[in-house]
Amino acid sequence: MSDICIEGGIRLKGEIKIQGSKNAVLPILAASVLHPGITVLESVPLIRDVWASVEIIEFLGGKVSVTGDQMEIDTRFLTSKEIPKRLGERMRSSVLFLGAMLARFGEAALYRPGGCAIGSRPVDLHLRGLESLGVMFLPDDSRIHAQISRWQGGEVHLTYPSVGATEQLLLAAAGNGEITRIYGAAREPEIVTLCEFLVQTGILQMEGIGTGTLVMCGGRESRDSCFRIPGDRIAAGTYLAAAALTRGEVQLHQILASHMTSTLKAFQKMGCSVGTGDQWIQLKGPSRLKNLPFLATNPFPEFPTDMQSAFLVMMTVADGHSVMEENVFEDRLAMAESLRDMGADIQVQGRRAFCRGVSRLRGAKVSGTDLRCGAALVLAGLNADGQTIVNNYEYVLRG
Ligand code: EPZ
Repeated sequence: MSDICIEGGIRLKGEIKIQGSKNAVLPILAASVLHPGITVLESVPLIRDVWASVEIIEFLGGKVSVTGDQMEIDTRFLTSKEIPKRLGERMRSSVLFLGAMLARFGEAALYRPGGCAIGSRPVDLHLRGLESLGVMFLPDDSRIHAQISRWQGGEVHLTYPSVGATEQLLLAAAGNGEITRIYGAAREPEIVTLCEFLVQTGILQMEGIGTGTLVMCGGRESRDSCFRIPGDRIAAGTYLAAAALTRGEVQLHQILASHMTSTLKAFQKMGCSVGTGDQWIQLKGPSRLKNLPFLATNPFPEFPTDMQSAFLVMMTVADGHSVMEENVFEDRLAMAESLRDMGADIQVQGRRAFCRGVSRLRGAKVSGTDLRCGAALVLAGLNADGQTIVNNYEYVLRG
């Protein structure tokens, strides 16, 4: 695993064009399997999880060519209905190819995605939802092996607004000529983007996009299309946090403030001045961040769990006491230990982290345990006095 070394204390100032959204492009790459034709994607983030999806598409028989941040995907001649362990286990969103392959071929086999540092990350909601659409799972100890003989229209009631399960069901419904209804669906911007892609390519007809009740009908003639991936709201929030932590000033381009309402409100509560316009956001960090007495992560439109690590860093140097509550993943406060190594006064009890702000962190050698934690430790290093070394930097490269 490689390291990244940061010299802290430098005020960040400047402008950045925000990369395309990782969590929007990954389900769309799986969805490209649904259309036996050519799909062109623009503003694709060239990050490791994207390359892992491209390898899966090519293993299935697809052809992918990349020019700059534009990707052309040809899935006319697919030859496999299985994803091998070595390709599936590298990232969680490989599980979304299940629904897409079922819709295209009526059969699919892949390995269960692994858990990771932030939690066990089961896929029970995915599988139960597919079952209610008529999918059968064949006995297989290590793999998920699924078949569908006849799609049945139907209703799926998600007991939790799971992003992945909603995406899974949208992809599977593409094969279903009957009406499918999803109640309790996730409403994240990445879900809206996936729906817009599926409608634009003719794969689905839909109602209720952006709400918790999605009504759709698939089994239709799809068409070649060109689709632009919107800016990554979490990458954007991470750069804003870098300015907030260094008394800096940044302007972000190609990002929708409407995707970040709860995050921008939290920045303002901590004393940052925030300006927004058409596809741009500007933030100026204060000389000292204000404490945030309580902040909880929850499904969209509430404060996003993927911004939790960055805000936890901000809380450790804010003026006063702050509490962070993580409600989405059962184990996403582990970064507190590394922050203590950097001089933070932070205690974790269950789902809550209690911070008493110090004036500044101090450089140390720390380890990232997941993508957002790794990025947040880089942010901590930007604030810290002296040199910080973050190892397991591969996690950060994933995003
Ligand atoms: C997506 O993960 C994102 N990943 C995550 O971003 C994000 O944190 C998460 O949504 C929540 O917004 C991608 O889009 C690739 P969930 P996903 O299903 O789909 C439980 C990042 O850093 N659950 O909404 O896995 C689950 O354990 C990543 O970019 C079940 O119990 O999120 C978790 O506690 C991290 N059973 C909660 O629901 C299931 O079948 C939320 O999971 C599915 C999920």
